[in-house]
Amino acid sequence: MKVLVVGGGGREHAICSTLAKSSKIEKLYCAPGNGGISDIAECVPVKATDIDGMIAKVKELGVDFVMVAPDDPLALGMVDAFEKEGIPVFGPRQNAAIIESSKVFSKNLMKKYGIPTADYATFNDIDKALAYIDDMGAPIVVKADGLALGKGVVVAATVEEAKQAVKEMMLDGKFGASGANVVIEEFMTGPEVTVLCFTDGKTIAPMLSSQDHKRAYDNDEGPNTGGMGAICPTPNYTPEVAAECMEKIFRPTIDAMNAEGRTFKGVIYFGLMITPKGPKVIEYNSRFGDPETQPILTMLETDLMDIFQAVVDEKLDEIEIKWKDGACCCVVIASGGYPLAYNKGCEISGLENVPADITVFHAGTEKRDGKYYTSGGRVLGVTATGADLASAIGRAYEGVSAITFENAHYRKDIGKKFI
Ligand code: AMP
Ligand code: GLY
Repeated sequence: MKVLVVGGGGREHAICSTLAKSSKIEKLYCAPGNGGISDIAECVPVKATDIDGMIAKVKELGVDFVMVAPDDPLALGMVDAFEKEGIPVFGPRQNAAIIESSKVFSKNLMKKYGIPTADYATFNDIDKALAYIDDMGAPIVVKADGLALGKGVVVAATVEEAKQAVKEMMLDGKFGASGANVVIEEFMTGPEVTVLCFTDGKTIAPMLSSQDHKRAYDNDEGPNTGGMGAICPTPNYTPEVAAECMEKIFRPTIDAMNAEGRTFKGVIYFGLMITPKGPKVIEYNSRFGDPETQPILTMLETDLMDIFQAVVDEKLDEIEIKWKDGACCCVVIASGGYPLAYNKGCEISGLENVPADITVFHAGTEKRDGKYYTSGGRVLGVTATGADLASAIGRAYEGVSAITFENAHYRKDIGKKFI
């Protein structure tokens, strides 16, 4: 088969390298890909959001299966467009991807179907939003309705901070149209867990649990980022919690989407908080998480292409998905300054000194004349497995210490709070 993966970050590098192990794939393409991906797949220069361009390229190359990884093309309806062309495609349709692209939609869905989540109110009127914050007090959480690169959430410790966030979203347009509507919700407490599930709309197959680290600096300080590292599985996700999540959250969500005529097929991401009152949904994503995918797929034993095909064919119940024992850790090396301004084009050195059993997924790199250069905020995801979490973390940092580039920045505490 000829398979094309849409996207070009660390998540897509992990997806491509997992697919590259499949005997069913004779040719792997990635659009647009990146420097690291170009070592294992042919990168084609089409922007991930260019639906017409992507369809034309897929036809030209004779691709027979497409996997859409990032949120924006899913929200724009790329899956629907490929389906219309009769080309098999993995990912949710636009009317299901809305579970991520509109927080107002997802919060209302959870309320309607009794799926546990933080209490909330939604606003398109700034005065009402500000008055609500006065009524509720702090701490309180303010979220832009739409996609905001994982940064449209402000956990406000004070009423003033919450009001400032609302003003930035609704008046200053900090997140563009994404902030025209805001969700203001109850502050929850408890450990966080992420569970990605494959689903064909009928069967739900949870992957190993994981835990992202969203803040830029150690001890969960500094601004929110796309994610600075992840571990898998997370000790917080006990079998009891897993059973409760399946019964009260995963199954009801898939059933709710079916009942709404928005059948979800693909990967659904449950961002959960294990509160004193049980697990509650923080957010849904309509796709593989980044960087969670890097450690999760590193732990996968089953052929990923078989899983993708089973989802598309609605035969996920016929597949047994197997995972490695032990644990995995991914440490992101970012450009200094990320998530704010940062330099690009810095030469990366030391990659050849990383031990062979440690995988370096490229997130923002470019390859020129056999050398790799930085081209994004998140640059690399150094990923290692171990018999337990402590050894996986140790190995990942061993890999990190081999690599350098100008102003490289990484957190030194990925996974440390679990050991
Ligand atoms: P999100 O982008 O929705 O995942 O939110 C980013 C981070 O904000 C989450 O990982 C949580 O740490 C935090 N957060 C979001 N919603 C809440 C909430 N209702 N209560 C407490 N923390 C939250
Ligand atoms: N790592 C969080 C996300 O992919 O949204």
